[in-house]
Amino acid sequence: MLTHPETIYIDEGVDFLDARLYSACRAPFGLAIMLPRRAYTSEVFQRLENEKVWTRDWVCVGSAPEIGEPHDLLPYTIGQHAIHVQRQEDGSLIGRFNKAQHGGCRAIPAQCRTGKKTKCSYTSCGYSRDRDVIQGGVLTELAPQMGQYLGAVPERLIPAKVKTSGPLIFANIDPTPDVERQFDQPVWPQNLVRLSGHWQEHRSNWKLAGAALVDVARSYEAGGGAVNHVASEWCFPNLVLIRTRHATLAIVLQPTAMDQTLWRLSFFSRPDLSYAEHDAACGVLLRLLEKAAAEATSRQGDIELCLSGETTERSRAGWQFNQLLMQRIAERHVSYWNAPLMHA
Ligand code: FES
Repeated sequence: MLTHPETIYIDEGVDFLDARLYSACRAPFGLAIMLPRRAYTSEVFQRLENEKVWTRDWVCVGSAPEIGEPHDLLPYTIGQHAIHVQRQEDGSLIGRFNKAQHGGCRAIPAQCRTGKKTKCSYTSCGYSRDRDVIQGGVLTELAPQMGQYLGAVPERLIPAKVKTSGPLIFANIDPTPDVERQFDQPVWPQNLVRLSGHWQEHRSNWKLAGAALVDVARSYEAGGGAVNHVASEWCFPNLVLIRTRHATLAIVLQPTAMDQTLWRLSFFSRPDLSYAEHDAACGVLLRLLEKAAAEATSRQGDIELCLSGETTERSRAGWQFNQLLMQRIAERHVSYWNAPLMHA
């Protein structure tokens, strides 16, 4: 059996697994069209991404300095699966599925079922939005967070694979036994420290957000020349890196709805920079972010207005991303999980 017998990805008569749907998207850049409009608006397509991307690829979930102390815990929802990465006593990192995959709400809130993840007061489950890092000191035996994330016997939780590249943490939850998805590490310069970070949420599909970020960074690169030294890189599926001469911005893209994406930002720079140099470097990045957010929101608006879905793909970054996404959609897998399994 190659796919779950009950799994179909059809929305209003459109079968997202039908390769013919994407044939015009495979043309060379300049001739190719965008993905079908529903790829940016459909909850069914979001479920397909869960099955073909989020549960298969190495996904960037944050950075190691965010969980610098023993027992610090970083929650992250990959697709519809709630995991965490925790710093161990010996300094290493461990990944696990949360104990409470859907722990507090007696029924999954309607807005979650339609792709609008909710700010649940209970926990970061596969249907709610993640909370920020939980400090190790909070995770005492009787703390509610202990029960929600770790349970009484964390060793019995389902493991999630974890790797690092520089300070960045990647997780992989592919359930296929004995198969390890290739990990394409981003190039990371030595000697950069994480100086700050925050989250922003913008109204655009995550795929449009990634393309907008890279395109806006490249327009700075072309316009700024030697002054700005801006370079950008989109590491499939959800990490965008934007580098200037003195600073690097890592943006982890996390869908919170079909038309909404959380941008989890980390600013890195060299430790020997003065405050003024650091502020100047971050200023460039913040202006760039503002432009990219406006661009992503505008592209989302265009997609929603475009009824034909036959729009030429004008973003080279978007086109390159689409080729990888279509490759993932065409892949067949021997293992799957639509719902998390629990041992604990
Ligand atoms: S526990 Fe899942 S939405 Fe509340």
